[in-house]
Amino acid sequence: MKIAILGGTGDIGEGLALRLAQKHQIIIGSREAEKAQEAANNYNKLLKEKGMKDDIRGTTNLDATKSADLVILAVKYQFAIPTLQAVSDVLDGKIVVTPIVPMSKQKLCAYTPPEQGSAAKHICSVMPPEIRTVVAFQTLPAPRLADLGDPLGFDVIVCADDEDAKRVVMGLVSDLGDVRPLDGGGLEEAELVESLTPLLINLAIKNKTKPLSVKFV
Ligand SMILES: NC(=O)c1ccc[n+]([C@@H]2O[C@H](COP(=O)([O-])OP(=O)(O)OC[C@H]3O[C@@H](n4cnc5c(N)ncnc54)[C@H](OP(=O)(O)O)[C@@H]3O)[C@@H](O)[C@H]2O)c1
Repeated sequence: MKIAILGGTGDIGEGLALRLAQKHQIIIGSREAEKAQEAANNYNKLLKEKGMKDDIRGTTNLDATKSADLVILAVKYQFAIPTLQAVSDVLDGKIVVTPIVPMSKQKLCAYTPPEQGSAAKHICSVMPPEIRTVVAFQTLPAPRLADLGDPLGFDVIVCADDEDAKRVVMGLVSDLGDVRPLDGGGLEEAELVESLTPLLINLAIKNKTKPLSVKFV
């Protein structure tokens, strides 16, 4: 599949790009083409050093979206709607995956959902109905995802109202390596998934551990 990672120059974008590039064509999107190309070059360098497939490309968010079958919206919550609106003319019937967690951070983190109930429902409410929104990747810590030596061994919960789109994204989760996709239901459940992230960050801070994720047993 051709996958555009909007804001793929950032933290979660890096790990997703490195790992998904082994089975998919990854296009890093950025507000600036040069920044995306530089990130893509750096990611390819890391992959080449490890003898892994290294054909990630970089361009603007708009051009990345144009060329892709599926779009991952890897930006902070406050930039999500403007970023999507900037590419809305070329979104067509594509799947939009949101790893987004609306949260505030002081000493500890708190989940701060919008009035729609979750970032996913907010995104869905401003998109045309043919755009299928899928929730995934919220509980994957970026530094561990970007560390290709980390075996992960986590679960990732995927929520969507469109069952076909959900199945596609559950497949992507499996393509990350030793990560099990779990069907978390529809978009109505997105707030449950999004709210796990501040809990995981707080647990890591309070217990002085490396970044934590989840595995359901
Ligand atoms: N970090 C994690 O461990 C983690 C884990 C799970 C989920 N998430 C979620 O994933 C999303 C991305 O997190 P992140 O930590 O990767 O974010 P980040 O590194 O802070 O930012 C990602 C990208 O957002 C773009 N950006 C910055 N300011 C912007 C603006 N004003 N308008 C539009 N784009 C802007 C930048 O790309 P350009 O400058 O190249 O445009 C940047 O590289 C968040 O919603 C977060 O909740 C993160």
